[in-house]
Amino acid sequence: MSYNIAVDGPAGAGKSTIARAVAEKKGFIYVDTGAMYRAMALFMIRADIGPEETERIIAACGKAEVTIAYEDGRQVVYLNGEDVNALIRTEEVGNMASAISPIPEVRKKLVELQKQLAAKSDCIMDGRDIGTCVLPGAQLKIYLTASSLVRAKRRYEELTAKGVPCDLEKIRADIEERDYRDMHRETSPLRQAEDAVLVDTSDMTIEEVIAKILELCK
Ligand code: DC
Repeated sequence: MSYNIAVDGPAGAGKSTIARAVAEKKGFIYVDTGAMYRAMALFMIRADIGPEETERIIAACGKAEVTIAYEDGRQVVYLNGEDVNALIRTEEVGNMASAISPIPEVRKKLVELQKQLAAKSDCIMDGRDIGTCVLPGAQLKIYLTASSLVRAKRRYEELTAKGVPCDLEKIRADIEERDYRDMHRETSPLRQAEDAVLVDTSDMTIEEVIAKILELCK
């Protein structure tokens, strides 16, 4: 049986950075489920479908094949055979992913793929509903969080380092709005699983968080 670590938490809590590092140290694969929702969102944007057009999203969802491959240990997301890794990290795609992810038809398709990956490989998987819905039997569950201000500052620094002009207050407002949507949706809302360990990273360095999770694995 494979060993599965489930990591959930709001946007910007550091889930992907931490999960990627833990995966490398343990020799596990890292499954970034947000990237799958983002690939699906990119398909909708390209089809000129708006975030409110639920019927069109459901119909289009059947035409979007999202698959995952690992190349040199790095997760590559394919959308109908096209590597879309470099196209899914924009705010526009993130907002669209948040808008389409409450739709049960979208979730059903991606959750199936996530369960299959976890069943065949030792993995650390991050997302919003991993401990609660996708991998309820995971051997270790972590709920990773940080204050919205800390998360906004991290995003601000990331964008500034890339030379992208941005506004801290706007980023914080977007983060809070996305948290609200993710936590209050009807289907698989973001919440801490009862058996998940809460890790608040607001005052922790990346190294401290990684060390804490590796300790919990023991
Ligand atoms: O983690 P992220 O920002 O890449 O995720 C993008 C959006 O996808 C996020 O707003 C919520 C959604 N998502 C989800 O509903 N369930 C997951 N397991 C992962 C992401």
